[in-house]
Amino acid sequence: MTKAITEKKTQKSASLKNDSITIRGGKPLRGEITVRGAKNAVSKEMVAALLTNEQCVLRNVPNVEDVTVVSDMIRAVGGKVNRLADGELEIINETIHPVNKEELKSIAGKSRIPVLFAGPLLHRSQEAFIPELGGCKIGKRPVDFHLKALRQLGAEIEELEKGFHLTAQRLHGAKIRLSYPSVGATEQVLLSACLADGVTELLNAAIEPEIMDLIAVLQKMGAIISVDADRVITITGVKELHGFKHSVLPDRLEAASWACAAAATNGKIFVAGARQGDLMTFLNKFRQVGGEFEIRDDGIEFWRGKDLRAIAIETDVYPGFSTDYQQPFMILLTQAEGASVIHETVYEKRFGFVEDLNRMGANIQIYRECLGGKTCRFGQENHRHSAVIAGPTQLHGAEIEVPDLRAGFSYVVAALVAKGKSTLKHIYHIYRGYENFTNKLFALEADIEE
Ligand code: EPU
Repeated sequence: MTKAITEKKTQKSASLKNDSITIRGGKPLRGEITVRGAKNAVSKEMVAALLTNEQCVLRNVPNVEDVTVVSDMIRAVGGKVNRLADGELEIINETIHPVNKEELKSIAGKSRIPVLFAGPLLHRSQEAFIPELGGCKIGKRPVDFHLKALRQLGAEIEELEKGFHLTAQRLHGAKIRLSYPSVGATEQVLLSACLADGVTELLNAAIEPEIMDLIAVLQKMGAIISVDADRVITITGVKELHGFKHSVLPDRLEAASWACAAAATNGKIFVAGARQGDLMTFLNKFRQVGGEFEIRDDGIEFWRGKDLRAIAIETDVYPGFSTDYQQPFMILLTQAEGASVIHETVYEKRFGFVEDLNRMGANIQIYRECLGGKTCRFGQENHRHSAVIAGPTQLHGAEIEVPDLRAGFSYVVAALVAKGKSTLKHIYHIYRGYENFTNKLFALEADIEE
């Protein structure tokens, strides 16, 4: 694909603002796309900027809905967020004022990030509010780990009808053990403990690449954080933090999604920006199922090998196979020869999208049992969290309402593989995490229209 053609298609797709797309499947995706900064890192790094009154600059920032939501939340507490250039954000929080609960509630319904404002706001204004959170409906997603950790760090928490009111004159270090290595709770402790009095030892912490990137930001700001063996993170509190300049790590989840799209449609996609180190576990499974890839200095090219074959997958916290790889990977498995198994151990309700896939012609059964090497938290609780995918199956077009982000992208891949026309409604969910995804589809020569 020449640059000129890509640009022409990009211009054409600029008008594609409607909330539904039509996809005519059966055409391999071919070409090159670029992934920018990870949605699940940039939003937390924006929150880190609340820990200082100095200028903070983030680069490689994707144009996704979550960035807009967090920008609105920062403005709601008195901060300033300016777009300096494409992909470059400046955040300055010189003064922070008490949260306007009503305003925050209306923003919070769209995201899970507001819970992470707690620590920085307690440091800046001795008071914070955690509203009811939004985000994808893929399980109960409680905030009990967050609240327990914040209490241990010295916050007083009052439960309100819809949310929690927090106060603390000063947070102090503590020894905190998470009962599960939650990404959000780990970030909560990092963002709360680096300005607390004394040392915090966090046991059973999550160590996702996005968390390491947040730690890199905090270190640039002046924090003292060590990541030790066996999921132990030690944070030595400092008196103040400073501004930073940081380029956000590339989005491994988006890269993996396009890899699945390449192999499922029997095409070939070069994902500029994808990094081998962050994608090791995904690349192993991609190879086992029959995908091929070439790692280059500036990205990774993905395509389908000779045959796709059934495999077993168990989602897990990093360095395991991410739950966010699972949905697009499942479309790949519908095209593989034999019976594949996915055991979902991170969220209890992440197979809601399977019903529509079966309507498109897939043959997927969901089970309550743990169909995997390990018994997980969900086995005894009757959650339908294991899937058996019989393949290969011929998918056919359908009308589908997108329920959430990753399921939404999976439907896109399913529709690209399917025979005939599919219409996907509510695609705004996909824009929450996939920058310019319709533009990218145009650039990859997909047959799509408004
Ligand atoms: N959990 C609790 N209590 C808590 C916190 C978590 O029981 O207080 C449970 C959750 O219900 C879930 C498990 O622990 O069963 C893991 O949740 P975690 O806290 O790790 O997830 P999160 O921080 O809410 C982030 C990503 C998710 C990603 C998960 C797991 C962001 C904004 N979200 O969520 O990303 O799936 O980590 O890696 O970073 C996505 O990108 O589509 C997405 C959902």
